[in-house]
Amino acid sequence: MNVLVVYYSMYGHIRRMAEAVKEGANSVSGAKVQICRVPETLSDEILVKMGALETQKAQADVPVCTLEDLVSADAIIFGTPTRFGNMCGQMRQFLDATGGLWSKGSLVGKVGSVFTSSATQHGGQESTILSFHTTLLHQGMIIVGLPYTFLGQMRIDEITGGSPYGASTIAGGDGKRTPSENELDAARFQGRHVAEITAKLLR
Ligand SMILES: Cc1cc2nc3c(=O)[nH]c(=O)nc-3n(C[C@H](O)[C@H](O)[C@H](O)COP(=O)(O)O)c2cc1C
Repeated sequence: MNVLVVYYSMYGHIRRMAEAVKEGANSVSGAKVQICRVPETLSDEILVKMGALETQKAQADVPVCTLEDLVSADAIIFGTPTRFGNMCGQMRQFLDATGGLWSKGSLVGKVGSVFTSSATQHGGQESTILSFHTTLLHQGMIIVGLPYTFLGQMRIDEITGGSPYGASTIAGGDGKRTPSENELDAARFQGRHVAEITAKLLR
């Protein structure tokens, strides 16, 4: 069973969440989990202005995702920071290059799942994940979220991401907040849940 974690992360929050998703998926027997990032679309000049060049360089060890990677996966878990309540442009551009796969039905029947991050608590995590699902449905994918059996999403004793739609983290207005243990637990749960569902489908 091949599980692919595909992400974009400008400042590192989604990368950290992606590692936790991978950890969760890896805990399922028979899962082979790969992690990859979508290509950067911004110039170094713009990345410097956004204070993101260093975090981009720090991800050079992560392979850049190809369309073939999508085809060989049984499940694909996507991670994107929110941009005005939607997925980021880098992810959009990558997905917009999958028209050829769509025309062949290459992704039909694969499991798809999404996690996200935002600066503010109510800055569009749910809209980002739900609007991402539209693309996955057009590709014929089977959507899996984060069920309430992950009890951490019921917490109100601390500020936390996580909803039935998927795991998420809140980066803070200055980006200094790192994913909390509860948010990382949600990411691990989602990774494991996706792998378990995929294993059942493959059987
Ligand atoms: C152009 C742009 C638009 C953004 N839009 C939102 C937004 O609508 N809501 C929000 O809470 N954060 C917004 N953010 C903040 C990012 O979502 C945040 O930096 C990101 O989740 C951090 O994840 P990363 O470290 O993986 O890049 C925006 C950031 C940029 C650069």
